[in-house]
Amino acid sequence: MRPGRTLSTRSYTSEALPSSPEGPTVSPGGQGSGRVGILYEVYYRTSRGGIGIPYLLAKMEFLRVFQGHSPEVGREMWVRHKMRVDLPLDPGQVSAVASNLGYTEAILHLRFEPHDGQEIDPIEPGRWHAGWVREGSSRVYQSEVYVQDADALLELAPDRRGFEVRQGAGTRRAVGHRSHRALSTLDARFLVNVARSKSSDLLLDPFAGFGRLVSEIRRRGLKVVAADVDRDLLPGFRAIGANVGLVADARCLPVKANRFDLVVTEPPFRSALRTSVLDSLREVVRVLKPGGHMVVMIAESMEKDVRMWFGEMGAGVDSVGVIPRGGGLKCPVLDITIPHC
Ligand SMILES: C[S@@+](CC[C@H](N)C(=O)[O-])C[C@H]1O[C@@H](n2cnc3c(N)ncnc32)[C@H](O)[C@@H]1O
Repeated sequence: MRPGRTLSTRSYTSEALPSSPEGPTVSPGGQGSGRVGILYEVYYRTSRGGIGIPYLLAKMEFLRVFQGHSPEVGREMWVRHKMRVDLPLDPGQVSAVASNLGYTEAILHLRFEPHDGQEIDPIEPGRWHAGWVREGSSRVYQSEVYVQDADALLELAPDRRGFEVRQGAGTRRAVGHRSHRALSTLDARFLVNVARSKSSDLLLDPFAGFGRLVSEIRRRGLKVVAADVDRDLLPGFRAIGANVGLVADARCLPVKANRFDLVVTEPPFRSALRTSVLDSLREVVRVLKPGGHMVVMIAESMEKDVRMWFGEMGAGVDSVGVIPRGGGLKCPVLDITIPHC
């Protein structure tokens, strides 16, 4: 242990850590491992569009995105959708990584000092407080490192952004089109974050629809092939920068075998299309490389069959969680690993 530093196995919150305006603080969670990290408080979104976001999904996304940085989780407050985490990253680095998160609303940097009796300003009402707060025998300076840009997100919302669809010889901007239901930006970010823990530079979305996943993948500078059976969507694929846009039935893709490491997709939910969705699985496996992955958000009613189908072919099927959506929809997300032979 470094001289002058206090380590404890008690929770972060009651611990007085040494003063360090920007530099690292030794976290109690690091005891034994000898880790030196910086303590952050993460505020997860509780809902989007009036629909709840489960705490565990938000936490899982955060940990996946920061997993290369060995995050150590401290105190968690599920009800208030917040947790403390120790990261070996400075605030600028944390902010850069966090900008891809969907379900994280804000991250504060915490600096603990022994409480010397000085008066502390009252806490403003709100989800978090930037400034000094009292915590046990310590005072803590909390500063905002990252806050999700609510206005920018609003601009990207499906009902604002629209999508180019073909009309006659030209195109029109549409916010809805036949039965297409676009994903929210935050859900699209979540799915791409889950998928990105598998590294790949070329992705496929064979049920691309209004391209929410495709746009998110492009925003990160990755290459993506967008395909959909509806030919009217082709101009939209071009407009959002898909590297390749295909009019194709997912049961018969004009793509060579073993072409992709990763498929991220949201097939249709309608029960009338159930057989066609299940039939497309064989094709997805054909175009994926052995050891490749598929991250899929599926209708609850199809989950069992999808699991069984992949299970029988020896694929690994992990449950990522269930995303609640409008109209009472519950959407399981599966992370599937194709076997090597
Ligand atoms: C739930 S939507 C995808 C929405 C998309 N993730 C988004 O956020 O915009 C499902 C899409 O699958 C397409 N689709 C339905 N059956 C298909 C098939 N057999 N092959 C390819 N696409 C199909 C529909 O045209 C629809 O655009």
